[in-house]
Formats: sequence, C-alpha cells, structure tokens
Amino acid sequence: MNLTQRNIVITGGTSGIGREVVRKLHRDNQVMVVARSAHRLAQLEAACPGIHICCADLARPADVESAAAAARQKFDRLDLLINNAAIQCTPTFLDPDFEPATVAREVAVNFTAVCTLTALLLPALMRAEEAAIVNINSGLGLVPKKNSAVYCATKAAINVFSQSLRLQLEDSNVRVLQAFMPLVDTPMTSGRGTGKLSAEQAASAMLRGIEQDIEDYDIGKIRALRLLARFAPGIARGIVRAA
Ligand SMILES: NC(=O)c1ccc[n+]([C@@H]2O[C@H](COP(=O)([O-])OP(=O)(O)OC[C@H]3O[C@@H](n4cnc5c(N)ncnc54)[C@H](OP(=O)(O)O)[C@@H]3O)[C@@H](O)[C@H]2O)c1
Repeated sequence: MNLTQRNIVITGGTSGIGREVVRKLHRDNQVMVVARSAHRLAQLEAACPGIHICCADLARPADVESAAAAARQKFDRLDLLINNAAIQCTPTFLDPDFEPATVAREVAVNFTAVCTLTALLLPALMRAEEAAIVNINSGLGLVPKKNSAVYCATKAAINVFSQSLRLQLEDSNVRVLQAFMPLVDTPMTSGRGTGKLSAEQAASAMLRGIEQDIEDYDIGKIRALRLLARFAPGIARGIVRAA
C-alpha cells in the first residue's frame, strides 16, 4: 500500500513507536490518533498539526465504541487501521507487587480493544479500494518470557486472531498484516534491555512492511527468533525467558 492520501486510524500514537509512525504519516495522510492521555494528545497535535485526536481509554468498552464512532464520523472510508496501543505489566504472579486487577486491564487494552475496534471499523475499511488492518505484535507473542505472562499471552492471541481474520477477509479488499517488533527503546521498555532498536527505526521498518504488503513482518532480531523457535525451540525459549 502506498502511504499517501490515506485515511488512517492509529491507537497509541502519543508515545514510542506509535508517535514516530504519526510523525512520518501525518503530512501526507489524514491521521486520527486514539490514546488515553489528553495532555499527550494535545502535545502531539501541536507537534503534528492537522492530525485528528481522540481521547479514549481502550480498557473501557464504552470508550472503544466512542473512538470507533469518532473515526467513522471523520472518515467515511478508512484505508488503514493500526492497532498499536498496548500495556505491559512486568511482575510475575509470584511477586508481592503483582496486582490481579491488572490482568483484565492488560487483556482489554492489548486484545479485546483490538478485536472490537476492528469489528466496528470494518465497514469503513470495506468502503476503501484497498485497505489494511495492521496489528503491532512482539517476539514475545512467538516465544514467551518469564515475567509479563499476560502481555505475552495477549500478543500470542493477537497472532492467532490476525491469522483467522485474514482467512475471513481473504476475498475482500482488506489485508490483515502484523509487524513483529524486537526490543525497542520506548517508555514501555524504559530501564531494561540492551541492543534496542530506536522507536524511529521500528516505525520506519513497520511502514516498509505495510508498503511492501508483508503479512507477518519480522523486524530486526525477530527474523532469527522465528527461525530458532521453529528449528531449535529449546534454545529460543532459553534466550527469551529472561529478556
Ligand atoms: N517497545 C518494545 O520493545 C516493543 C516490543 C515489541 C512490541 N511492542 C509493541 O509496540 C506497540 C507500541 O509499544 P511502545 O513501546 O511504543 O509503547 P509506549 O511507548 O508505552 O506507548 C504506548 C501507547 O499506547 C497508548 N495506550 C496505553 N494504554 C492505553 C489505553 N488504555 N487506552 C488508550 N491508549 C493507551 C499510550 O497512550 P497514553 O500514554 O495516552 O496511555 C501510548 O500512546 C505495542 O503494541 C507494543 O506491545 C513494543
């Protein structure tokens, strides 16, 4: 897909990878950014004039519905939905600071909101000549690590969801793509990990994947991880478990 003159909705465009994507797309496209913090949305709007902002907490079903309604009102035809927003709670279930209430919130933002927004925006996507849904995934959706169990599980769920949705839409104008990210230097990974991609590099790679219409785009070290997971799964699990 050529990324000019498109109507685009991106969740979580106020930080990290999403913000770099918005910076790259906003001049040549109509971009609506859905995120939770009104303050960060206002800052983004000042930096990227012309974008449309929508304040919504994607953990709340009513907010997901109102975000979809705002997008439908703005765009009769939607070319690209980028499901990027996610949260990652890092404690293990054995840690004293593990809070059971985070489970529902993490599943809601990382998985339920993606499915619901997709369903609510599908009619607008089907009105485009060519359209795509891009789900931002993670190497942790292929091989889990020890902590962040719920995050890993939601990313694995996104992978299976994307593959099934792809089958449902195979005779339509809507493509279902995934970008599998390695460790990227964003607030989500602040204070942990080494050898990270910059958010700018991750965003550029992801956009290349859309332009080249790659269904499951493995970025950076994920190419090697996917091969290892297939041919030497024990080694892959050993590498990732403490990531
Ligand atoms: N960073 C990595 O190493 C890495 C690796 C693999 C995959 N990924 C994936 O890449 C994507 C982007 O991650 P990132 O590292 O760029 O994250 P980030 O910097 O933490 O940004 C997350 C974005 O999601 C939004 N968001 C979070 N909770 C929300 C909610 N309840 N409602 C609405 N918006 C919400 C945030 O907006 P507010 O600030 O307004 O809440 C923010 O714009 C995610 O899908 C993540 O799983 C990241």
